[in-house]
Amino acid sequence: MTTQEAGTVTIYERIGGAEPIGRLVEAFYRNMDTLPEARELRAIHAPDLTETKRVLKLYLAQWMGGPGDYSAERGHPRLRARHMGFKVGTAERDAWLLCMKRALDETVPQADARHAILAALAPLADWMRNQPEGQD
Ligand code: HEM
Repeated sequence: MTTQEAGTVTIYERIGGAEPIGRLVEAFYRNMDTLPEARELRAIHAPDLTETKRVLKLYLAQWMGGPGDYSAERGHPRLRARHMGFKVGTAERDAWLLCMKRALDETVPQADARHAILAALAPLADWMRNQPEGQD
């Protein structure tokens, strides 16, 4: 690969595409099922996560620079609006990020990509909060 090309490689390509993202999402929800810190977060999700997993896989693939199947199917992500129906306070944000950090550690061996993904997801998760400061 030339230096010029290196700048255009997406995170999606760097971690290996749809298959590793599938493993990441499976690990993420497995962590949500098992970590005591995520018990309340898990409780507000559907009992059957089949569809949730499918959608998060599509979303993350698109978010990492891969195919735009998420928006082709669901339009603009409007993620914050889609989360308005759920209480997202600091505890929920932190539990979500904990599940994701563990999942990244488990499934993405490339340390630079792992750190870049978490660093980009942290402000996104924070932006999802929808409870008044200090009361969440
Ligand atoms: C970077 C942070 C986050 C991302 C990227 C994200 C992404 C997503 C996506 C793509 C969906 C599917 C939405 C759709 O139907 O199109 C979803 C659903 C959902 N998210 Fe998040 N989310 C984030 C943070 C959170 C947080 C902090 C909470 C805490 C309450 C949360 C709770 C939920 C719930 C309850 C659902 C519905 C799942 C179901 O019906 O089973 N999310 N999220």
